[in-house]
Order: sequence, then C-alpha cells, then structure tokens
Amino acid sequence: MVNNPNNKLLIVEDNPGVRKQLKWALNDYDLLFAENRTEAIEQIGTHSPGVVTLDLGLPPDPTNASEGLAALEQILAINPQTKVIVVTGNDDRANALQAISLGAYDFYEKPIDVDVLNLIVTRSFRLFKLEAENKALSEKQQSPGLTGIVGASQQIQAACRMVEKVAPTLATTLVVGESGTGKELFARALHHLSPRRDKPFVALNCAAIPENLLESELFGYEKGAFTGATKQSKGKIEQAHGGSLFLDEIGDMPVSLQAKMLRFLQERYIDRLGGQAPIPVDVRIICATHQNLEQSIEAQRFRQDLYFRISEIDIEIPPLRDRHGDKVLLAQFFLEKFSKKNAKHFRGYTVSALKKIDHYAWPGNVRELENKVGRAVILAEGQTIDVADLGFFSDDAETTEESLSLTLRQAREAAELAVIQRVLTVHNYNVSQAAETLGVSRPQLYNLMKKLGINHG
Ligand SMILES: Nc1ncnc2c1ncn2[C@@H]1O[C@H](COP(=O)(O)OP(=O)(O)OP(=O)(O)O)[C@@H](O)[C@H]1O
Ligand SMILES: [Mg+2]
Repeated sequence: MVNNPNNKLLIVEDNPGVRKQLKWALNDYDLLFAENRTEAIEQIGTHSPGVVTLDLGLPPDPTNASEGLAALEQILAINPQTKVIVVTGNDDRANALQAISLGAYDFYEKPIDVDVLNLIVTRSFRLFKLEAENKALSEKQQSPGLTGIVGASQQIQAACRMVEKVAPTLATTLVVGESGTGKELFARALHHLSPRRDKPFVALNCAAIPENLLESELFGYEKGAFTGATKQSKGKIEQAHGGSLFLDEIGDMPVSLQAKMLRFLQERYIDRLGGQAPIPVDVRIICATHQNLEQSIEAQRFRQDLYFRISEIDIEIPPLRDRHGDKVLLAQFFLEKFSKKNAKHFRGYTVSALKKIDHYAWPGNVRELENKVGRAVILAEGQTIDVADLGFFSDDAETTEESLSLTLRQAREAAELAVIQRVLTVHNYNVSQAAETLGVSRPQLYNLMKKLGINHG
C-alpha cells in the first residue's frame, strides 16, 4: 500500500496530542505528518497524498487561520485533485466556509469524534479515487489522435473505432459526410494515429483552386515549364512525402485531372510539369467529399476507377441531426471552449436553449453549432445562454412544463448515453466488463442500452 498515492493521508497538525489522537484514529491509511506549512508543502511535493486533513491554526500564529488558509491555497495549487479536509476550532464557521470557498472539500470541527472523522476521510478518498479513475478512463478513450472529437453517439464512436483500425495501415481512405460534419477532423485524426504522425499532413482543397492551377499545385513544376514558372516548385503530393496527403472535396476534381491522379495512385510516381523523369513518392492518401460520388459517377463527373482506388476504406460521418445525444454534448463542449478562450463564465444553457439545440435540424452540422455557440459566448450578457443568444427567435421555443421535463429527460439521457458509450468503447463492447465498471448489473446495462438505442457494437 505504501506506494499507492490513493491511500496516502497527510495530517497537518501542530499539536502533538491531537496528532497522536489522529494517528490512532486513522490508522487504516498510509499516514504522513506535517507540523507547519513548509513541511506540508514538502510532503505534498514528495508524496501527492489523495487526502489531507489540515488544521487551520498553524504556527507561527496558531490562534489565527491565515497560515492554514495559505497552506490550503498552496496545496491546491500544487495538486488540485487533492481532497483537503480543514480542521477548525469549535465555532469557527467563518474560517471553515472561507476554506470551502478556496476549494477545500470539507471541514471538521474539533474536538475530534473518531467515527465522524473517519466517515469524512473515507468519503474524501472515495471521491478522489473516482475522479482519478474517471480521468484515467477518459485519457484511455481519448487516444492522442482522437482528442478533440466529441461525441457519444453510436455513429461517432463507430467512426472513431474505424479510424483506430485503419490508421496503422496504408489504405486509401475516403471520408464522406455533409458539410461541417467533421470530415477534416477525422482525416487529421487518421494521420495522427498513424505511424506517419511525425511526418507532414498536407491538405489541398480541390474545390478551392481554379482548374488550371490545380495540376501544378498537386504535381509541381520545373523552372520554365510555363510562362511565370521562374523557379522549380514541389507539388502538394511531393510535400507530403513520408506523411499523408488530404485531398478535400475530391468530388470537385476536374475530370481531366482525375486520370492523372489515378495514374499516380496506381504507380506512386509523379511527373512534375515540364519534368524529365518520374519521381517516386511515398504518401498516404486521405480523401473527403460532401458529394454523393455514386451520383457523380452516373452523371460522368467522376471516374469510377478513381472512386474504387480512393475508397479502399469508407468512413461515413453522419449529419449532426441524426446523432442521438451529440448535439447537447457538443454544445457543452463548445461553451466551455469559447468561455475559456474569451475569459467569460456562464452557468450553462437555459432549458429552452437546450431544447432548441436538441430539436433544431443543424443543416450546417457541427460547424454551425460551433459558430452559434462562439457568437453567443461573445454576445450574451446574462449568466446563462438563451435561445436568442444563439441567434434563434425566442418564440421558437416552447416553455411549457411538459417541454421542461422532456428536456431534462433528454439531458439525462444524453449524459447517460455519453458515459455508457464511452465505457462500452473502452471495454470493446464487452457488456459484462462495462457493467462492472459502471456499477450496474448486466441485465440493467442491457436495459439501459435498449432504452438509449445502443447496439451491441
Ligand atoms: N465531433 C466533433 N467534436 C468536436 N468538434 C468537431 C466535431 N466535428 C466537427 N467539429 C468541429 O466543427 C468544425 C467543422 O469540422 P470540419 O472542418 O472537420 O468539417 P468538414 O466536414 O470538413 O466541413 P466542410 O465540409 O465544411 O469542409 C471544425 O471546427 C471542427 O473542429
Ligand atoms: Mg472540410
């Protein structure tokens, strides 16, 4: 147990009698002691105990709480996750409350009642361990490449698992989805989870570049290849050598260039414009499009053979309106992100705003939600974000009691869904293990999954 920080309890107490009493009362834990602020900070730095009991009356002036409160602030600055229980003299509520407002987890008044103190300490350790487990769980789920992809829905979790599977391979991958669904985010995740993560990720938007420039952008040119080619230039394909090339909006690539692209995919050599010899390039290709390529093939705007080449693996990102539970989750995520960025603080959304977020069809998908929340954070004047702050008309939202309870239920379901999906993913959809982690029985978990529309992976 000695090396388990979860079981380490630091007792900061200057009175030897009380120290002895505490030592006896709390002998289930791996105890550490400090008599003053300096010693306490040393112990925190060396041992990172999970829980601290802190006497507020410390030397040099034990009749005054200032030294204790200063110690509290320092401890939490070093280890914010530590649960600090402040111990005060009798009738010292004011200091106890100040300590709580500074971040202490609980307080306890002398004289010491062993049973009560033990209860408080046990509860503090339980919370500390839960928080640590939760942190470990989300770190495990959010492998570095997938950080920033928020979503509890079955579809997004499935897309994430697909990315994890495909990333280590060289397979050419096509990411399809409506505008703003997160295609580029997924393409980048694919690169960052691949062995090529330290090599370049080069992106080219085929729709944004005029047809006559796209070829030289992709393949590069030699000096003098055309008027204005005053020096040699490497194309995007070559720039991505060793890494990944992201061809965004591939559906908009002119048919004339599609043949040349296909040849590159088959042979893995490029010819710079005006070049003499083909140059071998090692690159992983990731494509994205919001178009329906099958329709484009039928309309002869897209070559079928190129389609087969680029879609060795397909990853489909569904529109936001179809992702059960993700809208509210993303709204919270963006609220936090933009509040931090703009140094603002909100208590959250109003019930009608949440309802609107959940019911609105989001034609611009995640990008639209992100923009609306970003704007609301800048413009909102109240403590909560309301429907109008999001740029909707207030009378769009119903505020009947029925809608209120509906929204609360939806909020609860979204939260449940998020946790369950995450735990299921971590356990690779092993329901028994997931049930154990979640602290419910297997049948209970099955029922919940059924209720929330989660398939078995
Ligand atoms: N699941 C998600 N979690 C967090 N942020 C997301 C998620 N999906 C998309 N975003 C954010 O939404 C914005 C749009 O995403 P992205 O640019 O990847 O979409 P896209 O499908 O490439 O859009 P377009 O078709 O318009 O190019 C980005 O700012 C992205 O970071
Ligand atoms: Mg994009």
